[in-house]
Amino acid sequence: MHMKGAVFNGPGTPLQIAELSVSGPQPGEVMVRMTASGVCHSDYHVVLGEWAAQTPLVLGHEGAGIVVEVGDGVTDVNVGDSVALSWTPSCRRCLYCVSGRPQLCTSAVQNAYRNVLPDGTTRLSRGGDPVYSYLSVGSFAEYAVVPESGAIKIADDVSPAIAALVGCAVTTGVGAAMNTVPVAPGSTVAVIGAGGVGLSAIMGARLQSPATIIAVDLSEEKLELARRAGATHTINARETDVVGAIKEISGGDGVEYAFEAIGRAGTIEQAYAALAPGGTAVVVGQVPSGVKISIDPMAMSGRELTLTGSNYGSSRPSVDFNRILGLHSSGALDLELLVGDRIPLADINEAFTAMGSGATGRTVIEF
Ligand code: APR
Ligand code: ZN
Repeated sequence: MHMKGAVFNGPGTPLQIAELSVSGPQPGEVMVRMTASGVCHSDYHVVLGEWAAQTPLVLGHEGAGIVVEVGDGVTDVNVGDSVALSWTPSCRRCLYCVSGRPQLCTSAVQNAYRNVLPDGTTRLSRGGDPVYSYLSVGSFAEYAVVPESGAIKIADDVSPAIAALVGCAVTTGVGAAMNTVPVAPGSTVAVIGAGGVGLSAIMGARLQSPATIIAVDLSEEKLELARRAGATHTINARETDVVGAIKEISGGDGVEYAFEAIGRAGTIEQAYAALAPGGTAVVVGQVPSGVKISIDPMAMSGRELTLTGSNYGSSRPSVDFNRILGLHSSGALDLELLVGDRIPLADINEAFTAMGSGATGRTVIEF
């Protein structure tokens, strides 16, 4: 079968809309017709050359669609089901999977980072040569073949844009504040970076009724979205000393929880420096390869600070996607506010330009 997909050929070159061949699902795999895909900063890291990836590669890992074909042995989904895609298609057998931490499944992470399916191959090709699928998803294309555990059945009435965002930004951000480090009621929280992931962390934190949620960004438009998402205070990092302002707002000591949702050394260090004694900083953003941070171990022991990481919101996609969608349909989460421009696949390169400027909400490709 043939389809259109946006192919990354190497850093510094725009994605190219190309005609690709896609072969049917092998045992345990599912073919999905994409209905929507969000454009996430983790795609942009690859475009910028901040993370190495083999090419040619169909980017996109925040996708939703309809199952059009299932391979032998697939039982979780049927043809016609609506699904949101997970970029940690867990093996369901390893220590991490059986202990309820599928986001740490080592084989899923290895396959996803090599942009291949569990058997080490890809179902996509161009002129007979393999084309890889980013994070075992590859949602910037009309079709994707994914492992069964990467296709999570959702209700048919969920809008494609919302379903797509639940596939990455929402689950990553909401989960960081609900699963990785559950925010305590009445506490103080800072979220540095108010993109799709940071806004989701604000919403996830708010569900647990902290007293204060301080949002930090460089863009006034993002800070306005942050207030709508539940931030009680905002700081424009272009104009203000971020750590000083967080301490001032939180009564002098700092915050009990600080979430970094950008992926930069300097802002991770800010999150840590903004903690009150006993506080916890959570690294949600993902840095360019090789970036190191500098922290003061004396403060860590003397003030009992915790620095921790969160992958995919420490979530279990097979249950958490639908829990989050339930919170959206009940009105507890307003995921629509995350959606910025809706564009056709052909405009993908402009979406990256907009992301670089930081001025818009999350761009969603609709197929
Ligand atoms: N200080 C404050 N805010 C900043 C700074 C800074 N120094 N630099 C960037 N920002 C803001 C941007 O203005 C933007 O609103 O951080 C936000 C990042 O949002 P997106 O680019 O939309 O990124 P997102 O998709 O939310 O991902 C954030 O999480 O999963 C990872 O790889 C992903 O590292 C990325 C991070
Ligand atoms: Zn993502």
